[in-house]
Amino acid sequence: MQVALPSPALRCWFRHASALAVLVLMVYLSARVLRVLSGCKPGVQSCIPEGPLPLQVPHESGLLVAPVWEEPQCLGPQGMLGRMTRSFRASLKPEGDVELSRYLAGWRELTRFLTPLGSIVAFAASEAFIKVTALEARVQGPDAAHYTSLATMAAWEQRAGSAQASGSRTLLLLHRALRWSQLCLQRVATGTLGGPDAGVQCGDAYRTALAPHHPWLIRQAARLAFLALPSRGRLLELACPAAGEADARAALARAAGVLEQVYNRTQDLLARHSLLQLA
Ligand SMILES: *[C@@H]1O[C@H](CO)[C@@H](O)[C@H](O)[C@H]1NC(C)=O
Repeated sequence: MQVALPSPALRCWFRHASALAVLVLMVYLSARVLRVLSGCKPGVQSCIPEGPLPLQVPHESGLLVAPVWEEPQCLGPQGMLGRMTRSFRASLKPEGDVELSRYLAGWRELTRFLTPLGSIVAFAASEAFIKVTALEARVQGPDAAHYTSLATMAAWEQRAGSAQASGSRTLLLLHRALRWSQLCLQRVATGTLGGPDAGVQCGDAYRTALAPHHPWLIRQAARLAFLALPSRGRLLELACPAAGEADARAALARAAGVLEQVYNRTQDLLARHSLLQLA
């Protein structure tokens, strides 16, 4: 991202401000980060085969020839975006529920994707990773039978009383972060050349999805730190290595579309169980 800064003094100020912003975020998050470092275990991968996703490729051709899009590797079985979208899609149960183990498997891939994007996103990702680990402990714990899906968890925690509601609360925090991820990826995928770069777009996504839930100091720190996000080109390269820009954009847009489906479904379920105001 190129921010035009008029003078070396300003540039120097900007560097310090960015560093300070990251420091504030570190302090805010470090307690929880430390907790995960002591308790994390290697992720369980789920790999669910599935048919190709419907995709609108801008294709002016053929009246008779169906548009064919050769999927870039990042959407394939070995690609991070591919693993992420497959897990998230598989979490959408036909009867309208969300399967927690697959939702969390999708989140694990998402945090892997977010971590290299720079300090601010790395901290947000580690924050999310802690929540994913906490929920996985329930999905695999003694009450596993009640943690197969969002609806079973919500019903069980509501029956058990507020002391038990932390699974739902954790899910709500992940849910908001998923919204940010979706908006950020979508905007990076579809942004115009010469338009706002990724840092600005993902900062806007932050203001929409997360800022209303964060204290003032964190909002200021985040605002500055987003300006240090890598450029769109770099993000596309990280998302879809070795693919051309058009393919990388299409792949990222597809992944963002799946995140949106999951977000919509989860939002609907959380609303139905009156869980949107928990935290
Ligand atoms: C998600 O919900 C919004 C608002 O209801 C809707 O406009 C959008 O099309 C939905 N997206 C998907 C992928 O279902």
